[in-house]
Amino acid sequence: MQPNTPIFDAILCRRSIREFTAEPVSTEKLEAIVTAGIWAPSGLNNQPWRFVLIKDKGIRDELATLTHYSHIVQGAPALIAVYLDTEKMYDEVKDHQAAGACIQNMLLCTEELELGAVWLGQILKNKKQVNTVLGLDDRFDLMALLAIGHPRNHNQQSRRNPLSEFILKRL
Ligand SMILES: Cc1cc2nc3c(=O)[nH]c(=O)nc-3n(C[C@H](O)[C@H](O)[C@H](O)COP(=O)(O)O)c2cc1C
Repeated sequence: MQPNTPIFDAILCRRSIREFTAEPVSTEKLEAIVTAGIWAPSGLNNQPWRFVLIKDKGIRDELATLTHYSHIVQGAPALIAVYLDTEKMYDEVKDHQAAGACIQNMLLCTEELELGAVWLGQILKNKKQVNTVLGLDDRFDLMALLAIGHPRNHNQQSRRNPLSEFILKRL
């Protein structure tokens, strides 16, 4: 059964978008995306997430050198770096779970704003250098870089394995 509701549709229709037009993304939209992120649940409501909003071309180009996905970073008119503030964390697993919930909220909001985004994780292997470029100390632990913009096209495909593969038991 696939309920026909706005939230279910948004979840199923969201795709990773990796190619963008040159049209800029407004600060208002970036702040709306962050607002969706901060309304994610977090353990003890500790809200450990922090964000860097990036539109500056020079910074984008510097970040692009730190990932295999440089073409995506360079081609995206906006980036949001999502961090955990380690001084606000209380539980390694739960705080990372909260970051994931935050990022998913942001991705869904991006679609709602008729923008596209992709969650970039590969750049985490250079998280120290990312902090240097962004002028942050190691208190802030990079969780993801979101590349955001107006989608160049809407033909992305994705697939999921059958539901039966994931349900371990029905008791
Ligand atoms: C933790 C995580 C890390 C990811 N890292 C990258 C990445 O570095 N580069 C990239 O192009 N996509 C990355 N993705 C996006 C996945 O490739 C994508 O979500 C997956 O292929 C399913 O496609 P869909 O999002 O369109 O459903 C990442 C997604 C997650 C959740």
